Amino acid sequence: MKPIHVGLLGLGTVGGGTLTVLRRNAEEITRRAGREIRVVRAAVRNIDKAKPLAGDLPLTTNPFDVVDDPAIDIVVELIGGLEPARELVMQAIANGKHVVTANKHLVAKHGNEIFAAAQAKGVMVAFEAAVAGGIPIIKALREGLTANRIEWLAGIINGTSNFILTEMRDKGAAFEDVLKQAQELGYAEADPTFDIEGIDAAHKLTILSAIAFGIPMQFDRAYTEGISRLTRADVKYAEELGYRIKLLGIARRAENGIELRVHPTLIPERRLIANVDGAMNAVLVKGDAVGPTLYYGAGAGAEPTASAVVADLVDVTRLHTADPHHRVPHLAFQPDQLADTPILPMDEVRTAYYLRLRAFDRPGVLADITRILADSDISIDAMVQKEPGEGEEQVDIILLTHVTVEKNVNAAIAKIEALDSVAGKVMRIRLEELASK
Ligand code: HSE
Repeated sequence: MKPIHVGLLGLGTVGGGTLTVLRRNAEEITRRAGREIRVVRAAVRNIDKAKPLAGDLPLTTNPFDVVDDPAIDIVVELIGGLEPARELVMQAIANGKHVVTANKHLVAKHGNEIFAAAQAKGVMVAFEAAVAGGIPIIKALREGLTANRIEWLAGIINGTSNFILTEMRDKGAAFEDVLKQAQELGYAEADPTFDIEGIDAAHKLTILSAIAFGIPMQFDRAYTEGISRLTRADVKYAEELGYRIKLLGIARRAENGIELRVHPTLIPERRLIANVDGAMNAVLVKGDAVGPTLYYGAGAGAEPTASAVVADLVDVTRLHTADPHHRVPHLAFQPDQLADTPILPMDEVRTAYYLRLRAFDRPGVLADITRILADSDISIDAMVQKEPGEGEEQVDIILLTHVTVEKNVNAAIAKIEALDSVAGKVMRIRLEELASK
């Protein structure tokens, strides 16, 4: 069979990795795909820089040379960002080409429009590499778990922030130093606030939620809170109480809608996912039939991400000639079967909480705090008052609550902060047991 022709947009970390893996494993990949997957052209920013890796692969600095090339069957978009990536992908689809992309930002923001265009044109848009790098979580969720009603999923889906949290805990390293290291290792986004403020994780969570629940991409409704406000004291106190703090993306089917949230989260240290360290990713998915399942692996880096890109290339190659109506739907559910289940506002989310506050060490303070919590219908699970430091009048008080509704916690925090005996702000970190029930 004649080779399938691929055009690459971008030959950076992931593009370079993709070319390397395709070349190194060419024979096995051909045996799997049923025909050769041949890269015939790549668009790059700087031809001189790309030349040593590209070798005799024709290069261009105009990405439209790739998307408009009639000889190309599949366009692989690895340039990232919204524009011109969106325009290039839409044009590739309009030209009847399949698309493989690692661009989580693009899929989370414009996926609905992109998939509709692909559906109308009868082409595939594959995006395994957009979530959790080399972990085949899209495939698992869309196909492997297709028998299940997905109840919830929770993932460590940003390697940079997990790396920072791990180094802070293990080595007491400073935030900025670890971030710099992550940038040098090529994990961090071009704009690292995407990593630190939970935006990159929210892009990925949006994609996972669409496939898990059969809903459109709704990035703008995801709650996003990053790790920049976390202190080493919180990391330490959490450990003393038997928890680890991770930046989790959580999508949960609740009674009145879907919770979609990214935030630092206390997790019991005995859970496997609590022990996912460094830049590694993991996604825990709870299906009603299968129970909890855990997917673990490298969430970033040249070859791990290339592993997902090439898997998509093989998939698309195999299905290239299949009837478009009999392919696996982009978002796991048939396009006319997407649900309009609302995404819940954060006020309606139900979870447990870690609260840390600084109070004067005098009679009645704890009584005031516990009364406020009781009045807000919040039940306390554990409470610790630390010894005052040498010559200090104030002490740290740490409270863990049972599951409650977020708006009650917000109201209680406002009242606690208004107490004369309490200094400054209450630190609030959500807590998830991630139990199998
Ligand atoms: N910046 C991302 C991360 C890269 O740190 O996980 C992979 O999407």
